[in-house]
Amino acid sequence: MSETSELFDQIVNLSKRRGIVFPSAEIYGGFRSTYDYGPIGVLMLRNVKDAWWRSMVQLRTDVVGLDASILSPPQVWEASGHLSNFSDPLVDCKSCGSRHREDKLDDPDTCPTCGEKNQFTEAREFNLMFETQAGPVKDSASTAYLRPETAQGMFINFANVLNTSRKKPPFGIAQVGKSFRNEITPGNFVFRTREFEQMEMEFFVPPEEANKWYEYWCDQRMQWYIDHGITPENLRLRPHADDELSHYSSGTSDVEYKFPWDWDELEGIANRGDYDLTQHANASGQKLDYFDPQTNSRWTPHVIEPAAGATRTMMAFLMDAYHEEQVNDETRTVLKLHHRIAAYKIAILPLSKKPELAGPAQEIFAQLSQNWMCDFDETQAIGKRYRRQDEIGTPYCVTVDFDTLEDKAVTVRDRDSMEQVRLPIEDLQNWFTEKLN
Ligand code: GAP
Repeated sequence: MSETSELFDQIVNLSKRRGIVFPSAEIYGGFRSTYDYGPIGVLMLRNVKDAWWRSMVQLRTDVVGLDASILSPPQVWEASGHLSNFSDPLVDCKSCGSRHREDKLDDPDTCPTCGEKNQFTEAREFNLMFETQAGPVKDSASTAYLRPETAQGMFINFANVLNTSRKKPPFGIAQVGKSFRNEITPGNFVFRTREFEQMEMEFFVPPEEANKWYEYWCDQRMQWYIDHGITPENLRLRPHADDELSHYSSGTSDVEYKFPWDWDELEGIANRGDYDLTQHANASGQKLDYFDPQTNSRWTPHVIEPAAGATRTMMAFLMDAYHEEQVNDETRTVLKLHHRIAAYKIAILPLSKKPELAGPAQEIFAQLSQNWMCDFDETQAIGKRYRRQDEIGTPYCVTVDFDTLEDKAVTVRDRDSMEQVRLPIEDLQNWFTEKLN
């Protein structure tokens, strides 16, 4: 897997230059494939998560949300199968000491670090969970794990949610949050990191409806990426072969994006059967099933799980939106992001710093920022400021000029077409409500 491509470098450079993503602990030389999201990145990442939550929870009557703890006791991970199964095959190079994931090597006999052949140790299984201690006493009773997926929080709260939310199958529980995996080979910028964010939903269905809902969620999830601006040709749904399936899954398809290195996974949609609820019911001794008053029977719902990565998805949005265009002998870098994903929706730009323009510009900012994340920039020439907003993907710029003082109107510039229209200030609220819906 190669990290070097022009687009890859452009995205890493833009991220650093414009405050999207910084290497973590950079002043100490960086820290092992962890990243910090800067002033623009934190907004974009939040927008990715909000766009997911909007379509998975807000716009539906059959899905509710949850925010479960990150720390959990070993029993959870024993029952889920993660303590015994959640591992990757690890090999060491006897020549240079580097460690690799055996199943990700381009050539299984050659060390990608030093190039030596046939120097790998036998593969051994390496569990990817981060183990820690809860409380001041370091003994086996205090062992805890950072969750490697958000999913188990939904399963162990199934009965709590069922009993309090007045939902019945088919219904879903959705969660967005951090997960942690001690990846052997993190890399490709924020694509594979040890700390990352997931957006997962467990959809509990009558067993005989599982296949229908699996197909349904595969379609819905593909459409979500397209609706938020991903080029359809760069997206595909790839069903897993039998030998790829996770220990819990009877069917999985990956939503894959055409990254600069290859097609790679954004999201997995899995038919998990009744594996998780049954495992937790057996291990905890609690009932994790559903009493169906219509048929007067008890059954364990099957689960369809669309499981996406927020940080990885943000990277795909960045790559898909990145364009360089020739405009008047100059190269314009522009992120053609969907407005829901863009960090700022509107930039308010007074043509000069003079107080007579700053006043009305501040008033417009105060008004529009009630509803949308807006930037305010009064430095440098207007052309440079447009370019700065293009680079971070702001869909609209509002320019306040000296005519504004007379006609109470402003110039609104569209990021993609660069066309400008003159609009009365009093119409801005309605105009943007329509455009940014
Ligand atoms: N509950 C099922 C589950 O966690 P997964 O395929 O292991 O399934 C779901 O993870 C998604 O989480 C992946 O499709 C990916 O987008 C994201 N993800 C997984 N590991 C990641 C990592 N190390 N770095 C960034 N994102 C990751």
